Amino acid sequence: MSPVPVGMSVSDVDRRDALLAEARSRQASVAFLQMGDPSLSLELTRLADSGVSSITLVGVNLGPLAPAHSWLRRIAAHWWRERAGERPVVTVATRLVTSLSSVDDVLLDLKPITGSEPGLTSAARKDVTGHARQVLICRGPRCTAAGSEDTMRALILAMMEAGLGDDDVLVTHTGCQFPCNRAPVVSVQPDDVWYGAVDPAAAAMIVHDHLVAGSPVESHRLPR
Ligand code: FES
Repeated sequence: MSPVPVGMSVSDVDRRDALLAEARSRQASVAFLQMGDPSLSLELTRLADSGVSSITLVGVNLGPLAPAHSWLRRIAAHWWRERAGERPVVTVATRLVTSLSSVDDVLLDLKPITGSEPGLTSAARKDVTGHARQVLICRGPRCTAAGSEDTMRALILAMMEAGLGDDDVLVTHTGCQFPCNRAPVVSVQPDDVWYGAVDPAAAAMIVHDHLVAGSPVESHRLPR
Protein backbone atom coordinates (compact mmCIF):
# COMPACT_ATOMS: atom_id res chain seq x y z
CA MET A 1 0.00 0.00 0.00
CA SER A 2 1.16 3.56 -0.69
CA PRO A 3 2.65 5.44 2.25
CA VAL A 4 0.34 7.61 4.33
CA PRO A 5 1.87 11.05 4.96
CA VAL A 6 1.22 12.07 8.57
CA GLY A 7 1.34 15.78 9.34
CA MET A 8 3.20 16.15 12.62
CA SER A 9 2.37 19.70 13.70
CA VAL A 10 -0.19 22.44 13.30
CA SER A 11 2.03 23.86 10.55
CA ASP A 12 1.40 20.72 8.54
CA VAL A 13 -2.33 21.13 9.05
CA ASP A 14 -1.87 24.55 7.44
CA ARG A 15 -0.24 22.73 4.51
CA ARG A 16 -3.03 20.24 4.17
CA ASP A 17 -3.51 20.89 0.44
CA ALA A 18 0.13 20.00 -0.27
CA LEU A 19 -0.13 16.81 1.76
CA LEU A 20 -3.36 15.86 0.02
CA ALA A 21 -1.84 16.44 -3.42
CA GLU A 22 1.15 14.28 -2.53
CA ALA A 23 -1.08 11.53 -1.16
CA ARG A 24 -3.41 11.63 -4.17
CA SER A 25 -0.47 11.30 -6.54
CA ARG A 26 0.20 7.96 -4.82
CA GLN A 27 -3.48 6.94 -4.42
CA ALA A 28 -2.98 7.26 -0.67
CA SER A 29 -4.68 9.12 2.16
CA VAL A 30 -3.35 11.57 4.76
CA ALA A 31 -3.53 11.77 8.54
CA PHE A 32 -2.53 14.23 11.22
CA LEU A 33 -0.86 13.66 14.55
CA GLN A 34 -2.61 16.66 16.09
CA MET A 35 -5.18 19.37 15.36
CA GLY A 36 -6.03 18.03 11.92
CA ASP A 37 -8.67 15.77 10.52
CA PRO A 38 -8.51 12.83 10.13
CA SER A 39 -6.42 12.02 13.16
CA LEU A 40 -3.85 9.27 12.78
CA SER A 41 -5.90 6.91 14.93
CA LEU A 42 -9.09 7.52 12.94
CA GLU A 43 -7.31 6.99 9.63
CA LEU A 44 -5.64 3.79 10.82
CA THR A 45 -9.04 2.48 11.91
CA ARG A 46 -10.60 3.42 8.57
CA LEU A 47 -7.87 1.69 6.62
CA ALA A 48 -7.92 -1.42 8.83
CA ASP A 49 -11.71 -1.65 8.63
CA SER A 50 -11.49 -1.46 4.85
CA GLY A 51 -9.36 -4.61 4.87
CA VAL A 52 -5.91 -3.12 4.25
CA SER A 53 -3.31 -5.63 5.45
CA SER A 54 -0.28 -3.36 5.64
CA ILE A 55 0.11 0.37 6.26
CA THR A 56 3.24 2.51 5.96
CA LEU A 57 3.39 5.83 7.77
CA VAL A 58 5.70 8.71 6.85
CA GLY A 59 5.93 11.60 9.31
CA VAL A 60 5.88 14.98 7.59
CA ASN A 61 7.34 18.12 9.13
CA LEU A 62 7.09 20.95 6.63
CA GLY A 63 6.95 23.73 9.23
CA PRO A 64 9.41 25.17 11.72
CA LEU A 65 8.59 23.02 14.73
CA ALA A 66 7.31 19.49 15.18
CA PRO A 67 7.09 17.03 18.03
CA ALA A 68 9.79 14.38 18.20
CA HIS A 69 9.56 11.63 15.61
CA SER A 70 9.07 9.12 18.44
CA TRP A 71 5.53 10.41 18.95
CA LEU A 72 4.51 9.08 15.56
CA ARG A 73 5.56 5.58 16.64
CA ARG A 74 3.99 5.97 20.07
CA ILE A 75 0.61 7.04 18.71
CA ALA A 76 0.66 4.32 16.05
CA ALA A 77 1.66 1.72 18.65
CA HIS A 78 -1.11 2.85 21.00
CA TRP A 79 -3.63 2.37 18.21
CA TRP A 80 -2.14 -1.00 17.32
CA ARG A 81 -2.37 -2.26 20.90
CA GLU A 82 -5.94 -1.02 21.30
CA ARG A 83 -7.16 -2.28 17.95
CA ALA A 84 -9.78 -4.98 18.33
CA GLY A 85 -9.89 -7.67 15.67
CA GLU A 86 -7.67 -7.92 12.62
CA ARG A 87 -4.59 -5.73 12.82
CA PRO A 88 -2.68 -4.74 9.72
CA VAL A 89 1.10 -4.67 9.68
CA VAL A 90 2.07 -1.06 10.41
CA THR A 91 5.53 0.21 9.49
CA VAL A 92 6.90 3.68 10.12
CA ALA A 93 9.64 5.52 8.26
CA THR A 94 12.50 6.07 10.70
CA ARG A 95 12.97 9.70 9.65
CA LEU A 96 10.61 12.62 9.22
CA VAL A 97 10.48 14.25 5.81
CA THR A 98 10.90 18.00 5.68
CA SER A 99 10.10 18.20 1.99
CA LEU A 100 7.48 16.19 0.14
CA SER A 101 10.00 15.53 -2.61
CA SER A 102 11.97 13.33 -0.19
CA VAL A 103 9.19 10.88 0.70
CA ASP A 104 10.76 8.15 -1.43
CA ASP A 105 14.10 8.57 0.35
CA VAL A 106 12.74 7.78 3.80
CA LEU A 107 10.83 4.76 2.48
CA LEU A 108 14.17 2.98 2.24
CA ASP A 109 14.32 2.70 6.02
CA LEU A 110 11.13 1.44 7.68
CA LYS A 111 10.56 -0.05 11.11
CA PRO A 112 7.51 -2.12 12.06
CA ILE A 113 5.25 -1.38 15.01
CA THR A 114 5.50 -4.30 17.43
CA GLY A 115 3.36 -3.12 20.33
CA SER A 116 6.36 -2.91 22.65
CA GLU A 117 6.82 0.82 22.01
CA PRO A 118 6.31 3.26 24.92
CA GLY A 119 2.73 4.23 25.69
CA LEU A 120 1.04 7.62 25.65
CA THR A 121 2.07 8.59 29.16
CA SER A 122 5.45 9.57 30.56
CA ALA A 123 6.63 10.63 34.00
CA ALA A 124 7.64 14.05 32.70
CA ARG A 125 4.06 14.78 31.55
CA LYS A 126 2.24 14.06 34.80
CA ASP A 127 1.76 17.49 36.35
CA VAL A 128 0.54 20.90 35.27
CA THR A 129 3.59 23.04 34.56
CA GLY A 130 4.52 25.82 36.98
CA HIS A 131 3.93 28.51 34.37
CA ALA A 132 2.98 31.99 35.54
CA ARG A 133 1.63 33.01 32.13
CA GLN A 134 0.07 31.33 29.16
CA VAL A 135 0.58 32.74 25.68
CA LEU A 136 -2.21 31.87 23.27
CA ILE A 137 -1.20 32.09 19.63
CA CYS A 138 -4.16 32.20 17.30
CA ARG A 139 -3.89 29.62 14.50
CA GLY A 140 -7.37 30.27 13.20
CA PRO A 141 -7.84 30.68 9.44
CA ARG A 142 -7.36 34.44 9.25
CA CYS A 143 -4.41 34.62 11.60
CA THR A 144 -2.80 31.71 9.78
CA ALA A 145 -3.28 33.51 6.45
CA ALA A 146 -1.81 36.67 7.99
CA GLY A 147 1.38 34.92 9.09
CA SER A 148 0.83 33.41 12.53
CA GLU A 149 3.31 30.64 11.73
CA ASP A 150 6.11 33.22 11.50
CA THR A 151 4.77 34.82 14.67
CA MET A 152 4.93 31.49 16.46
CA ARG A 153 8.44 30.75 15.23
CA ALA A 154 9.75 34.18 16.34
CA LEU A 155 8.03 33.89 19.72
CA ILE A 156 9.47 30.44 20.43
CA LEU A 157 12.97 31.46 19.34
CA ALA A 158 12.86 34.61 21.48
CA MET A 159 11.66 32.59 24.45
CA MET A 160 14.51 30.12 23.98
CA GLU A 161 17.00 32.97 23.79
CA ALA A 162 15.52 34.44 26.98
CA GLY A 163 15.69 31.08 28.76
CA LEU A 164 11.91 30.81 29.17
CA GLY A 165 10.53 27.30 29.33
CA ASP A 166 7.18 25.63 30.02
CA ASP A 167 7.54 26.32 33.75
CA ASP A 168 7.68 30.05 32.97
CA VAL A 169 5.38 30.52 30.00
CA LEU A 170 3.11 27.90 28.45
CA VAL A 171 2.64 28.49 24.72
CA THR A 172 -0.62 27.20 23.31
CA HIS A 173 -2.00 27.21 19.77
CA THR A 174 -5.68 28.05 19.51
CA GLY A 175 -8.46 28.35 17.00
CA CYS A 176 -10.01 31.74 16.24
CA GLN A 177 -9.84 34.08 19.25
CA PHE A 178 -12.34 36.46 17.61
CA PRO A 179 -10.65 39.80 16.74
CA CYS A 180 -9.65 38.45 13.32
CA ASN A 181 -9.35 41.94 11.83
CA ARG A 182 -6.27 42.37 14.02
CA ALA A 183 -4.52 39.22 12.80
CA PRO A 184 -2.16 37.71 13.74
CA VAL A 185 -3.58 37.76 17.27
CA VAL A 186 -1.73 36.72 20.43
CA SER A 187 -3.12 36.94 23.95
CA VAL A 188 -1.34 36.63 27.28
CA GLN A 189 -3.17 35.19 30.27
CA PRO A 190 -3.94 35.68 33.12
CA ASP A 191 -2.81 39.25 32.33
CA ASP A 192 -5.76 39.63 29.92
CA VAL A 193 -3.48 41.44 27.49
CA TRP A 194 -4.33 41.03 23.83
CA TYR A 195 -2.08 41.87 20.91
CA GLY A 196 -2.82 42.40 17.22
CA ALA A 197 -0.71 42.56 14.07
CA VAL A 198 1.90 40.47 15.83
CA ASP A 199 4.61 40.08 13.23
CA PRO A 200 7.92 38.41 14.14
CA ALA A 201 9.43 41.67 15.43
CA ALA A 202 6.39 42.27 17.65
CA ALA A 203 6.56 38.70 18.90
CA ALA A 204 10.15 39.22 20.02
CA MET A 205 9.13 42.47 21.76
CA ILE A 206 6.33 40.67 23.58
CA VAL A 207 8.84 38.16 24.88
CA HIS A 208 11.43 40.70 25.99
CA ASP A 209 9.17 43.48 27.26
CA HIS A 210 6.13 41.62 28.55
CA LEU A 211 7.12 38.06 29.40
CA VAL A 212 10.58 38.89 30.73
CA ALA A 213 10.27 42.48 31.98
CA GLY A 214 6.55 42.49 32.80
CA SER A 215 5.62 45.53 30.68
CA PRO A 216 3.03 44.94 27.94
CA VAL A 217 3.95 46.15 24.45
CA GLU A 218 1.60 49.11 24.05
CA SER A 219 2.26 49.57 20.32
CA HIS A 220 0.48 46.28 19.51
CA ARG A 221 -1.94 46.07 22.44
CA LEU A 222 -5.62 45.78 21.61
CA PRO A 223 -8.18 47.79 23.61
CA ARG A 224 -10.20 45.97 26.27
S1 FES B 1 -8.49 33.77 13.13
FE1 FES B 1 -7.28 34.65 14.72
S2 FES B 1 -8.64 35.92 15.80
FE2 FES B 1 -9.87 34.96 14.29
